[in-house]
Amino acid sequence: MKAAVQKEYGNPAEVLSVEDVEKPSFDAAVSKTCVLLKVGAASINPIDYKILDGSLKGFLPAPFPSTPGFDVAGTVEAVGADVTRFKVGDRVFGDNWNPMFSTLSEYIVAKQECLTNTPADLSDVEAASIPLAGLTSYQALLKHGGFKEGSKIFVNGGTTATGSYAIQLAKALGASHVACSASNVELAKSFGADTVVNYKEKDWGEELGDGSYDLVYETVGGKESWDKALKLLKEEGSAFVTLVGGIETTDARYKGMMCDNATGETDLEELRKLFESKKMKPYLEPSGPYKLTTDSVRAGFEKLQSHRAKGKIVFDCNVTA
Ligand SMILES: NC(=O)c1ccc[n+]([C@@H]2O[C@H](COP(=O)([O-])OP(=O)(O)OC[C@H]3O[C@@H](n4cnc5c(N)ncnc54)[C@H](OP(=O)(O)O)[C@@H]3O)[C@@H](O)[C@H]2O)c1
Repeated sequence: MKAAVQKEYGNPAEVLSVEDVEKPSFDAAVSKTCVLLKVGAASINPIDYKILDGSLKGFLPAPFPSTPGFDVAGTVEAVGADVTRFKVGDRVFGDNWNPMFSTLSEYIVAKQECLTNTPADLSDVEAASIPLAGLTSYQALLKHGGFKEGSKIFVNGGTTATGSYAIQLAKALGASHVACSASNVELAKSFGADTVVNYKEKDWGEELGDGSYDLVYETVGGKESWDKALKLLKEEGSAFVTLVGGIETTDARYKGMMCDNATGETDLEELRKLFESKKMKPYLEPSGPYKLTTDSVRAGFEKLQSHRAKGKIVFDCNVTA
């Protein structure tokens, strides 16, 4: 079968290649809580290149040879002895955290706890765009940010993958007002943002800093974001949730977070319902879907690493001879 493979640290946009590798062996008695998946589509996130280029070596060393990708959508081909939630032929999607990395491949073994059923009406390419970015934003708002119906929120990065899902989620769950920063104002509005500040023209801290926000969700980074956010946030009971970190403060409102991926029965299941009921929609980079070939995986990583992608970079993993 084909899979994307990188053998040592380096820039994936230059060294990642698609190779012939062994299809994973699957023994239902050994891989008791896992399924064998025929991968339909897989998507990548910034963490994929940060692992492969060595930026995260200290706390997430790459398991070389590495096949990148956490996000996946596909069809169950075999189930482990203790798998209760899925059967052969089910369409599933998820964030395959354990074993870490793997999904840019024709077949993978995945833990059932990372998966849930694919929303009806979504293709594998659409479903693969959801898990990591969607789960991160779901958890940022509801588990770390204290979001509730009526909350007023600001998303720094309204057209990042995580930011787009946060805007849609906040609107679906009854936010009183959603503001964001984005250079593509119309795109951010298409996700439901009520107010969009073009960060290339205006300072969102100055524009919106009236101390009335319950939550600032940070998907871009930079010390200045925290300084600006302090102008937006209410003094009491508000939160600044960051995916990027990098600020040292004892302010109780500041919360760094890491996505909890093994939530196929809970958080991902809630997201599934929101996509199935069309309250949220997939956000796909128009240059995709990419193919599972060396040139195409390198092009996909190059687009992701540009920090200018407009949507998720998704790979169609159906390989035709
Ligand atoms: N902690 C966690 O568990 C976790 C989980 C997921 C992601 N992350 C991190 O979160 C960050 C975002 O990831 P992502 O996948 O959502 O990003 P992404 O989709 O790759 O971000 C690309 C987007 O960023 C926008 N952008 C760039 N600079 C901006 C700025 N100064 N202000 C506003 N928008 C800007 C770009 O729009 P323009 O074209 O307008 O520049 C583009 O639309 C990454 O650092 C990632 O590693 C962390």
